[in-house]
Amino acid sequence: MCGIVGYIGQRDAYPIIIKGLQRLEYRGYDSAGIFLYDGETMHLSKTKGKVEDLKHKSETSIDISGKLGLGHTRWATHGIPNDINSHPHSSNSGDLVIIHNGIIENYESIKKALQERGYVFESDTDTEVLVNLIEEVKQKEQVKLGKAVQIALNQVVGAYAIAVFDRTKPDEIVVAKLGSPLAIGIGDNEYFVASDASPFIEFTNNAVYLEDEEMAIIRLGKEIKLRKIKDDAIAYPTIQELQLNIEEIEKGGYDHFMLKEIYEQPRAILDTYRGRLRVNQGIIKMAGIDQNLEKFLNANRIIIVACGTSWHAGLVAEYTFEDLARVPVEVEYASEFRYRNPVITDKDVLIAISQSGETADTLAAIKMAKEKGAFVFGVCNVVGSSIARETHAGAYTHAGPEIGVASTKAFTTQITILTMIALKLAKEKGIFSESRFHALLTELEGIPAKVEKVLESNVLIEQIAEVYKDSTNCLYLGRGYNFPVALEGALKLKEISYIHAEGYPAAEMKHGPIALIDEQMPVVVIATRKGHYEKVISNIQEIKSRHGKIIAVVTEGDEMVTELADHVIEVPETTEALTPLLTTIPLQLLSYHIALMRGCNVDQPRNLAKSVTVE
Ligand code: F6R
Repeated sequence: MCGIVGYIGQRDAYPIIIKGLQRLEYRGYDSAGIFLYDGETMHLSKTKGKVEDLKHKSETSIDISGKLGLGHTRWATHGIPNDINSHPHSSNSGDLVIIHNGIIENYESIKKALQERGYVFESDTDTEVLVNLIEEVKQKEQVKLGKAVQIALNQVVGAYAIAVFDRTKPDEIVVAKLGSPLAIGIGDNEYFVASDASPFIEFTNNAVYLEDEEMAIIRLGKEIKLRKIKDDAIAYPTIQELQLNIEEIEKGGYDHFMLKEIYEQPRAILDTYRGRLRVNQGIIKMAGIDQNLEKFLNANRIIIVACGTSWHAGLVAEYTFEDLARVPVEVEYASEFRYRNPVITDKDVLIAISQSGETADTLAAIKMAKEKGAFVFGVCNVVGSSIARETHAGAYTHAGPEIGVASTKAFTTQITILTMIALKLAKEKGIFSESRFHALLTELEGIPAKVEKVLESNVLIEQIAEVYKDSTNCLYLGRGYNFPVALEGALKLKEISYIHAEGYPAAEMKHGPIALIDEQMPVVVIATRKGHYEKVISNIQEIKSRHGKIIAVVTEGDEMVTELADHVIEVPETTEALTPLLTTIPLQLLSYHIALMRGCNVDQPRNLAKSVTVE
């Protein structure tokens, strides 16, 4: 859950590393560090805080010249965020320097053994143990850095993407990967290393993504050498042409990535169904489903695994698959599922949902389900990510890079994909008439324009935010398809504004949460005309009688809820199964504005990271 960047070439490494770290800050941002080598001297600068703090410290305390560098932005696992625990870490001799994303699980026993042999440690990190283990192997076995890294990695248990520099071999960087992502950018007599391609996208479109258990020796003036960590076999790099463009990873005039990504949703949803939703032909084309249709049609059930917001998208899909396609669905937290010894058979289809495609628990759940014989389908946003590679088949959401730590467009595009799958299965099973199917496709095609319409409420939502920005608690209620939206709304508020928020099925309120309601308590109720409308109105009455404040998301032209609620936000009418694509948007904007008014860091909320690569 950290970001790593490295450079070796003809340019000054410092600006490349700093800019790269800023782009990778979504992966962790509690401390940062940089290492530079100018051909003679090694310079190291590390600090608690953000990359901006590192920039300030480095520019005032070290020589920032050098054509080789390594940088790291951290999400603490072993040891609190402070200057000493920040990466890069050096070996005892001072010759080796390492950056690491991941966790070395058996670091304590290795550390103890190294201490007994005279090694001393400054930090509390597992990474400092690894660099000293590499050093010991190198000295004891009298081998070069690459071999030493390989031998050392065969002694560790855990996950890593590492880059290592050796002062005695200053024209090379050795990198290795297991479980955490690592991309190598190939330029003209220069190489880049990073957790994803964003740090080098303006320099090269050619990249190699290391596979698990691969390492590479990157030497200036030479082709990269890839080998397997386990058995030393030579591996051959596949150079991929990157599709990313620089505008996609910049804020494009918005104050925050989160706001930009909220506003990108009409385009993102359209990109998700583009080429797949063929309304005129009355079909949905999705290669991953088309090629495995029998698996889906013959499945006993569909199990959906995911974490966080992606899990909420899975919950929406539970309604869609059962309601439209009549397939039994179970939705599981990946972290619970993987350790529960679940009953899985080869008649099960498992759908794993993940924006990043790197979430450790989701990845582990996939591996387990595969071992037990299930067919595994991935819904990911990041192309080429670990989950995309690990699954038997899948569909990308094509939402474009999501950089704000709070997930927004990933959620709506995941729902779009999952709805298309449900519609397709319903059609194949003959559940729908042609005309109903056609009407649903047309409705889905019209969703981006309706999302645009919802976005027009931004100013109104900002005004509502002003009223409730100092609340300490907030309740979110929804029923049916909009129950998961209530959960998602509450998650958005708590994660970026630090206000305690709970999402509940509206009817469940009277079994406990109702005790919380008083005149201080804002209650966000999703009360669209389709789906349990009258019942939700009864729930609103129950809140009103206890003086709770009601912010209602309603269908355009609504009268009944409007009369009862303190504030209403209208969304256009749509078919019930598609309402989450519209009702989610005001909740995203509400949490954005509240967080901003409370002075919170919207794009980088405390303690969080975008890519959760630790379990
Ligand atoms: C919340 C959020 C997280 C992620 C979760 C899963 O806004 O972003 O809850 O949804 O960490 O991440 P992915 O989808 O990358 O597997």
